Amino acid sequence: MLTPRSIQVFDCTGKLIQKPINRVTWSVEAAEKGGYEHFMLKEIMEQPAAVKAALTPRLHDGEIRLDDFELSAEKLRSVNKIVITACGSAYYAGCSGRYAIEKLCRIPVQVELASELRYGEPMVDEHTLVLVLSQSGETADTIAALKECRERGATIIGIVNVVGSTIAKLADHTLYTWAGPEIAVATTKGYTTQLAVLYLFALYAAEKLGRLQKAEYSSLVRSLKMLPKLLQETIDMNYQIPALAGRYASQSLFFIGRNTDYAVALEGALKMKEISYLHAESYAAGELKHGTIALIDEGQPVIAVCCNEALCDKTLSNIVEVKARGAKVLALAFRGNRKIVSQADDVIYIPQIETIFSAALAVVPLQLLAYYAAKEKGCDIDKPKNLAKSVTVE
Ligand code: AGP
Repeated sequence: MLTPRSIQVFDCTGKLIQKPINRVTWSVEAAEKGGYEHFMLKEIMEQPAAVKAALTPRLHDGEIRLDDFELSAEKLRSVNKIVITACGSAYYAGCSGRYAIEKLCRIPVQVELASELRYGEPMVDEHTLVLVLSQSGETADTIAALKECRERGATIIGIVNVVGSTIAKLADHTLYTWAGPEIAVATTKGYTTQLAVLYLFALYAAEKLGRLQKAEYSSLVRSLKMLPKLLQETIDMNYQIPALAGRYASQSLFFIGRNTDYAVALEGALKMKEISYLHAESYAAGELKHGTIALIDEGQPVIAVCCNEALCDKTLSNIVEVKARGAKVLALAFRGNRKIVSQADDVIYIPQIETIFSAALAVVPLQLLAYYAAKEKGCDIDKPKNLAKSVTVE
């Protein structure tokens, strides 16, 4: 029996019994962290469950149905361009999601920084479908970009995490990412659930447009359904990242990759910058020789994302290029990639998945690398200096 001043415990016969008292010393905040040292680490570990929450309401017996609206085949056929607009990590999620939409739907996708689009007199009209990505749904630049596109007659789909947020209210349709509360300023599950929803949308639209054979569609839906399980495997298999963070986190890092790998390298560099305050630059691996390779000196850490199997040999040649100039290379590759071991100094593996879905797995080791680099530096990981969780001002 519980009273404000006492607790009594009785056995099933009603006899009062004594139970040992364990005092929980957690603060409320610690309790909210679920035992993790930082919200960011908790939210990285929550990604399998968060992505499952994003996928489940839309997966029905091998079919994809968007939970709260329909886009007809006729409407989708009238779309001649898709614009994805967002800021920061949400923009980088759009850069990754673009590959899936273009490959499956064969509709041109432009990914635009909201802070640029809003002042750029966007060429958007009633034949444009605009996907607005935002974890908070309150980012000022993203809201302004949404309004700019709406005034030009575009159809707006908001892909947001916070229910009832401004972007959710302004959009014609909303697809919630269902990531749950994200406390750390640096987004992790907010980003991967945005990717999950973009992958769902790509498959949904491709099927509606008749761009996929039934067998291919079913196979890709099955693969997408595996994402939460593969995310957990990615987390479980990368226990060596704290040690790697110590070896590679230095005052300036390069993150390189091609195509889908370049998009995820963008997010990896931002994570490193915003929580460890180390300078990190993401570069399209094929661009290095056009100038930036001049910066590669002895011991320069380079993180090479090599999860796009069609381009792996090309990225391998970039690894050889930078190593020839003294770089120290940490590569990210699919489990089973043996070639990479002969070229990179260290390798982080992730489970195999379709290249168009690979960003959702490849980003996790990069999130952890940034986390442990920041932890080693003693940074305020959940509340990095100068940053806000939602940039509600210009
Ligand atoms: C992400 O780690 C950053 N905190 C930041 O780039 C963020 O993604 C950006 O401000 C957009 O926020 P939103 O998704 O809430 O619109």
